[in-house]
Amino acid sequence: QPLSVNEYLRQHIRTVPDWPAPGVQFRDITPLLQDPKVFRVLIDAFVHRYMDRALRPDVVAGLDARGFILGAVVAYELNVGFVPIRKKGKLPFTTVEETYELEYGSATVELHTDAVKAGDRVLLIDDLIATGGTMMAGKKLLEKLGATVTEGAAIVDLPELGGSQRLREGGLALYTLVD
Ligand code: PRP
Ligand code: ADE
Repeated sequence: QPLSVNEYLRQHIRTVPDWPAPGVQFRDITPLLQDPKVFRVLIDAFVHRYMDRALRPDVVAGLDARGFILGAVVAYELNVGFVPIRKKGKLPFTTVEETYELEYGSATVELHTDAVKAGDRVLLIDDLIATGGTMMAGKKLLEKLGATVTEGAAIVDLPELGGSQRLREGGLALYTLVD
């Protein structure tokens, strides 16, 4: 029986125990990017969904840093622009910012104030949802500028950390490929 896309992708995610801190099972997506066949299956899974008329965004926003790798390629394929949501201190122009808690530590993210326009429909992309704090912070930044986040997309959801449930309860539709 042929593997589903989800199973195929799952087989190329590497788990590294106790990294970057004891007790964390780090889900490493670099093997997905490294193999050109797997990388194409991965990107196409997102592109096919968001090419659809009803789901096609005006802009793709990617979360620092692994969301940049996916988001830029998906935006290019959809023929829409890409905007980076960066860790604090990296963006040169005027920004809005949001601080949040992570599975390990806390962080502040920033977005250029002219990155999106009021009314823009934005697809928010990252590699993984753990506590959901990063994606929620990204959504808040985009909404501060008057944009609407139509969906949050990620390769991996870690449902036991409760992030995806909290995000959905907070009104964000999610699309993830591997639990
Ligand atoms: C990881 C991951 C997500 C975030 C998910 O990034 O790439 O962005 O954590 O966790 P959350 O759902 O609990 O917010 P990390 O902070 O390790 O940064 P990096 O991409 O720069 O390595
Ligand atoms: N970001 C937060 N938690 C993570 C995990 N367990 N694996 C990979 N990235 C993460």
